[in-house]
Amino acid sequence: MIDKKMEQAFNEQINAEFFSEYLYLSMKAYFADLNLPGFVNWLSVQVQEEHAHGMGMFDYLIQRGGTVKLSEIAKPDSCWASPVECFRKISEHEQLVTSLINKRMDVAEEVKDRAAMHFLDWYLKEQVEEEDSVCNVLRTLELIGDDKHALLMLDRELATRTFTQPVIG
Ligand code: FEO
Repeated sequence: MIDKKMEQAFNEQINAEFFSEYLYLSMKAYFADLNLPGFVNWLSVQVQEEHAHGMGMFDYLIQRGGTVKLSEIAKPDSCWASPVECFRKISEHEQLVTSLINKRMDVAEEVKDRAAMHFLDWYLKEQVEEEDSVCNVLRTLELIGDDKHALLMLDRELATRTFTQPVIG
């Protein structure tokens, strides 16, 4: 049976992953309003990834004999000053998620749950990729500045991103 402290840590992270899904859904709507379909696609993939992350923990907690307790998902922002500001927010958010997963790992170490440590390791590796992919778009947006033509070229590139169901754990 999973330790109660570990169970709570997983439940908190499930909420954080579903909040991420909700936040990116809100950003998808923001880019739809700007008529940038490539950014909309990029965010769609992000939404699906966050859903998979949340469900991965949801299923794992059940598999470990724990109880999933869903809590309220906070209201996300819905307006950003510009695409680059929006991606700055994504970058900050992903860094926050990384710190949260590190905190869950601290709990796993404290209660000596090696299986949970191994499981959370996948999430830590995923965060390295997530932070990198967001950072790449952010750097390009910073280079682009006010160049609308370059922004449309980036939009075309982001339209090619596809979702692959991750194999978690
Ligand atoms: Fe599931 Fe983007 O962290």
